Amino acid sequence: MLVAPSILSADFGNLANDVKKICDNGCDLVHVDVMDGHFVPNLTIGPVVVSAIAKVATKPLDIHLMVENNTFFVDLFAPLKPGYITFHLEEEKNPHRLVQYIKSLDIKAGVVLNPHTPASSVEYLLSNLDMVLIMSVNPGFGGQKFIPEVVEKVKRLKVLRDKINPNCLIEIDGGVSDQNIELLKDAGVDVVVAGSYVYKHKDIKTAIETLKA
Ligand code: DX5
Ligand code: ZN
Repeated sequence: MLVAPSILSADFGNLANDVKKICDNGCDLVHVDVMDGHFVPNLTIGPVVVSAIAKVATKPLDIHLMVENNTFFVDLFAPLKPGYITFHLEEEKNPHRLVQYIKSLDIKAGVVLNPHTPASSVEYLLSNLDMVLIMSVNPGFGGQKFIPEVVEKVKRLKVLRDKINPNCLIEIDGGVSDQNIELLKDAGVDVVVAGSYVYKHKDIKTAIETLKA
């Protein structure tokens, strides 16, 4: 299991330190939640702050766009050379084109599915994707309750993924903790995002190790 702590739950007054903490304690990716106040009712960070994060991060950035104008934001973040950029399928008229565009910038590309969006919606994109991110909460905020129905969606996606593109990673985001990690692993998740579980834990190293084990 790969672990991508979400810096949304970090202390933004000590952001560099909190990014270092996860990188020094076994994280695989640094999950960065970009919200524009339109696609979701919350606003987070733009390229100035993300470039400060990129300077201290020793693991690849995993940029999760929760925005209306995806291409505009891809162009803002591409110069920071993130490992992954994922965008919401619900907000993109031409997802196939955008996936090709992200990959042409030498960045791995993924799509994100909100809780109501079926696994089958990515069937004809899968051969091009490096990642599918399944939301297990409604996007916009950290610290929400896990939506259990998405476990079935992970299983359905895994069947498609194994058939069409075994190299594509299945990531899950929202309400992940030691309480559901076993279930998620059994369902076929490859990468877990965890914000509050990691940053509110008394020991970050133990939190990351628990999710990996
Ligand atoms: C929610 C974000 C998540 C969030 C997860 O819109 O995409 O990445 O930070 O936070 P937790 O793990 O606290 O649910
Ligand atoms: Zn996220």
